[in-house]
Amino acid sequence: MILALETSCDETSAALIHEGRVLSNAVSSQIALHEEYGGVVPELAAREHLRNLLPTVRKALADSGADLSQVKAVAATQGPGLPSALMAGLKAAQAVAYTLRIPFLGINHHEAHLYSPWISGSPPAADFAVFEPNISLVVSGGHTMLFYVATEGRHRLLGSTLDDAAGECFDKVGKLLRLPYPAGPMIDRLAAQGNPNAHQFPRPLMGEPNYDFSFSGLKTSVRYHLRDHPELAEDARSLSDLCASVQAAIVDVLTTKTMAAAKRLQVRCITASGGVTCNSALRASLTRACHRHQLRLRLAEKALCTDNAAMIGILAERKLLAREIVMDLDADIRPNWELESSACS
Ligand code: KG4
Ligand code: ZN
Repeated sequence: MILALETSCDETSAALIHEGRVLSNAVSSQIALHEEYGGVVPELAAREHLRNLLPTVRKALADSGADLSQVKAVAATQGPGLPSALMAGLKAAQAVAYTLRIPFLGINHHEAHLYSPWISGSPPAADFAVFEPNISLVVSGGHTMLFYVATEGRHRLLGSTLDDAAGECFDKVGKLLRLPYPAGPMIDRLAAQGNPNAHQFPRPLMGEPNYDFSFSGLKTSVRYHLRDHPELAEDARSLSDLCASVQAAIVDVLTTKTMAAAKRLQVRCITASGGVTCNSALRASLTRACHRHQLRLRLAEKALCTDNAAMIGILAERKLLAREIVMDLDADIRPNWELESSACS
């Protein structure tokens, strides 16, 4: 059994994993704490992780029905993420490994997202028997990346955002509209009542022959549009139309680029994960596009889209099975850890 911890940003999470099954996945979110600052405050996040770690681990143990003596390895997110936040989880995991004299694994947060769409069901379990080559969209508050995943453990970064991430764009537009942080879920809800064609916002880099993204221009054009039409943020109807139109621009770009990659690399499967994958318009758009092109689609389950320790533990278990390196107990955090492309054609 593996105990996994995730503390890279503003969620403290602990999970117990056994033979591909998620026995428990406790998540303590700090959203309420950071909301009044309109974004994550690293120092507060670190303190909150320290406060929440033990209760969250206790909850994960209680939910799984297991006890610490059954834990045979411990994993934690090693990077990328906020340094002080990563430090809290990593050092706690290493302390457990030291005390129990069991192996420790430091996991790349993005790599864990990449394989999270293969975890599904209730209770959730990973099914790598049905794994197939895929194009994987990882789309969150901090990152927007497209990967080609050839086989398990072999992936290549195709492109990423040059400036703001898609989630960041949702959140910054939300700030302009004075919506609570993080604004993605609220924009999603408001957009459901709105007309996505009410305003034409730019679709940056959408037609370019590359897999890079850029969302800061889109946010700026919303800012100018609001400056010229302040009344749009005033009544509910206009606000919904505005949200639907911004959302449509983001979703169009994400879907178009993902499908172009699938066509170019001739894969038959698309996967998506990260907080923005909770977005209902993105889920619907990818579903439609995959249906049209007869591709299989695996969207990470909503509970596993946002940051969670289950995906960290599932990947750690695969790495142990593949006999990948177990780390020194004094391994350090890697706040800027880029997910290296592992050899694949
Ligand atoms: O993966 P995540 O929990 O944290 C990061 O690693 O960043 O993603 C959080 C991001 C935020 O930007 C939030 O606004 C966005 O995901 N998000 C959404 C939705 N739910 C969360 N964006 C659009 N629609 C949603 N339903
Ligand atoms: Zn994440």
